[in-house]
Amino acid sequence: MKILVVYYSMYGHVLQMAQAVLEGVKEVAGVDAVFRRVREFEDIERDIPQHEHALAVWNRQRDIPVCTLEDLKDADGYVFGTPTRYGNMTAQMKRLFDSTAKLWLEGAFEGKPAGVFTSTATAHGGQETTPLTMMPPLLHLGMIVVGVPYSTPGMLHAEGRGGTPYGASTMAGSRNELQPAPEDLAIARALGRRVAEVTKKLRG
Ligand SMILES: Cc1cc2nc3c(=O)[nH]c(=O)nc-3n(C[C@H](O)[C@H](O)[C@H](O)COP(=O)(O)O)c2cc1C
Repeated sequence: MKILVVYYSMYGHVLQMAQAVLEGVKEVAGVDAVFRRVREFEDIERDIPQHEHALAVWNRQRDIPVCTLEDLKDADGYVFGTPTRYGNMTAQMKRLFDSTAKLWLEGAFEGKPAGVFTSTATAHGGQETTPLTMMPPLLHLGMIVVGVPYSTPGMLHAEGRGGTPYGASTMAGSRNELQPAPEDLAIARALGRRVAEVTKKLRG
């Protein structure tokens, strides 16, 4: 049984969250974790060397395989992660969803559990809207959406950090200067574990 963790990250916050999700998936026995990044746009890839921080992050992830339609088809469960762009998912992640028409026609995603995670610059910049607006494509494709219940440690708080019932999240700061809080990473791990456990129950 395969759980696909697929993410996009420019400045490394979602990459760290994705690695935490992956750890959570791997905690569940009898499940294979597959780690993929979303393909970058060619023009952005060309410009990356001009930005020191983005280049350092790029060098950390360039060898992670790009997610293909085969990867999507083969998986039994999914966790999708993207930073926010104007309160919504990135175009890079949206391009991946928009490339699935053939799989949608085949019903390849139907009955498969999926969770989401994100990063925003600020507290009110898309912590809720980004995971929520990622959900319509998941539902169109027939996936079963898995959230983060409030019984998860670190969820009930009023601090300047992530953790939403719609998906795991973190806050990068307006200059991407923050790091994911330990609680954000723990919630990301819990999400990975939960998607893997639900997938095992539904498809094991
Ligand atoms: C074009 C653009 C739009 C963005 N829009 C938002 C936004 O609406 N709200 C917000 O909080 N952050 C916004 N950000 C900041 C990113 O979400 C932030 O850099 C990201 O969460 C960092 O994740 P990463 O390190 O994985 O790339 C935007 C960034 C860019 C480049």
